[in-house]
Amino acid sequence: MYSVDLGGGAMLRPLEPWQAEEFLAHMDRARDTVDPWIPWASISTDLESARATLQRYADKQAADKGRIYGIWLDGTLVGGTMFVTFDVDSGIAEVGCWLEPAGTGRGLITAAVRLLIDWAFRVRGLHRIEWHCRPDNKASSNVARRAGLKLEATLRESYPWKGVRHDTEIWAVLAPEWS
Ligand SMILES: CC(C)(COP(=O)(O)OP(=O)(O)OC[C@H]1O[C@@H](n2cnc3c(N)ncnc32)[C@H](O)[C@@H]1OP(=O)(O)O)[C@@H](O)C(=O)NCCC(=O)NCCS
Repeated sequence: MYSVDLGGGAMLRPLEPWQAEEFLAHMDRARDTVDPWIPWASISTDLESARATLQRYADKQAADKGRIYGIWLDGTLVGGTMFVTFDVDSGIAEVGCWLEPAGTGRGLITAAVRLLIDWAFRVRGLHRIEWHCRPDNKASSNVARRAGLKLEATLRESYPWKGVRHDTEIWAVLAPEWS
């Protein structure tokens, strides 16, 4: 299995349906801190739904419409990053991410996101990479800023979550801006 060394004992590797049990155990550790921001942990609450989440990304990958990668820290799955969407025809993809508490504060997501963007631009020839987050999710927008994306717009009340409508910030970087 191939993997990318992120340094400090962290590895970035594909995350696949056969790893559903490990993914669910990680989601159980991540749920409290991820759930307030995105519906990621809440769509993987038991083995069946965790496997379905990973299968959905396996299907996206097979269709070249998205991909998901896990981050292992000292052998434990602590988070990951994904192409939520990946559209070769328009040259546009959206990147997303999450971490459980044990993985935060080390620069792992910033490093992993840079790798994904670099691959999308240099290897796949995409033109625009987006990052969507709530304005009050400062940890998320800090990643976007550190990775070199610019804030372009705020979509008002575009994200209904747990009975409340939130704004969505759209961050993006274009291929000619990437170095
Ligand atoms: C968004 C999220 C993944 C960011 O986690 P994070 O640990 O802040 O991000 P990184 O892995 O890039 O690490 C950056 C932190 O490590 C620190 N750091 C340490 N070494 C670093 C390095 N070599 N390079 C960059 N940052 C480093 C940074 O200073 C920063 O900490 P600070 O914010 O306290 O200054 C996390 O908050 C999370 O999972 N949130 C819930 C899910 C979510 O919101 N996902 C995004 C939806 S849009």
